[in-house]
Amino acid sequence: MDIYLDTAVLDEIRAAKSWGVLRGVTTNPSHVAKAGVRDLKAHMQEICFIADAPVSVEVVTEDGEEMVRQGLEYADWSPNVVVKIPTIPAGLQAIAQLTKQRTAASCSGCAHFTGCPIRERFLNANTLEKNPEVNATLIFSANQAILALAAGASYVSPFVGRLDAIGEDGLLLVADIAQILKAQNQSGKIIAAALRHPVHVTAVARLGAHIATMAFPLLQQMVGHPLTERGLADFMADYERSRQQ
Ligand code: E4P
Repeated sequence: MDIYLDTAVLDEIRAAKSWGVLRGVTTNPSHVAKAGVRDLKAHMQEICFIADAPVSVEVVTEDGEEMVRQGLEYADWSPNVVVKIPTIPAGLQAIAQLTKQRTAASCSGCAHFTGCPIRERFLNANTLEKNPEVNATLIFSANQAILALAAGASYVSPFVGRLDAIGEDGLLLVADIAQILKAQNQSGKIIAAALRHPVHVTAVARLGAHIATMAFPLLQQMVGHPLTERGLADFMADYERSRQQ
């Protein structure tokens, strides 16, 4: 299962990247507001460069045509951009239209444009020109996932913790979607989202989610264990003692 960060904070993305575990980033308008982003394009291009992996950028409209317009604009920013679209009727319409277009990111205005190894890699692999990829977001039922995939989404994002919070079972939704993909021998990736604690991460991995996206504190929680800390402290103390003998 791939690990994504669910944030727009550059330092968090840099930290996860330095651990060698980051395979993508998901953002949303709330993350963007929280990170105090002024220039969305420049900020997303920076995230795309740091992460060097797929980065979901969410449309901010409820109109289908405008979603397509924004999606095409985002897809021009970087070949790493994945357009995030809400799973509503207008969103399905936008997913269907957007994923049929052919686009090639111009990366115009990107601070890393000159000699960018990422752009170079896409060019060399002949994959700069492509159909924009869509992450269908705000998924709370298996039927929404079925529809988003039918419309052409590459990723579906069930919000596990938000279902748990209203007394439903978020993990059951992930299990249902995973089972459907398997039974239908269908492509499409599950991004288990709105994860609240480490047990969620282990559970969605077991259930067959392809990706778990999480806040940075949850990633930190995943690596921490009191016995690891105590064991390491003991080893270091013993090492110091042996050096002084
Ligand atoms: C996923 O892509 C969403 O950005 C995210 O997981 C939202 O969840 P939350 O705001 O409930 O944490």
